[in-house]
Amino acid sequence: MKQINLTTKITVYSYEECTDIEKKLIDAAKQTTSNAYAPYSKFKVGAALLLSDGKIITGNNQENAAYPSGLCAERTAVFYANSQFPDQKIEALAVAAYYNGDFTSELVSPCGSCRQVLLEVESRYQSPVKILMYTNQNEVYVADSMSSLMPLSFDEKAFK
Ligand code: THU
Repeated sequence: MKQINLTTKITVYSYEECTDIEKKLIDAAKQTTSNAYAPYSKFKVGAALLLSDGKIITGNNQENAAYPSGLCAERTAVFYANSQFPDQKIEALAVAAYYNGDFTSELVSPCGSCRQVLLEVESRYQSPVKILMYTNQNEVYVADSMSSLMPLSFDEKAFK
């Protein structure tokens, strides 16, 4: 028998400790929550991506009466970025959520399906995507990559 201990590093910064571009990304994620279409959950999520040329792409959750047909903020942003700018790496993603009149005090971490999509972005572009998760407690939780949040993940290497 052997045991494997997997560790994940998350660094928690205050907003002020973030770099200028990280602040811009967080601000964009917060701002775009206002364009979310979330009449069912009322949970408005914003995602902002930093592309390698410095462009910021935003997306928000888009719900539907047939619930599974909706899409999370992160995938809305990633699929738009990859469809419009396939030659640009995605360097970072900021996520924020607005609920019950305020930004959430708990971090919003990308769901499993969004993680899987972001994992493939990392392998497609051979480059980590830094994940920044905002809370209204003046804290930004930062993971260096999506793969660091997904130990033992399934990816295209399985087909080899
Ligand atoms: N949602 C996101 O957009 N991103 C996440 O990381 C978590 C959940 C959306 C899906 C749904 O529209 C609403 O938030 C409530 O789950």
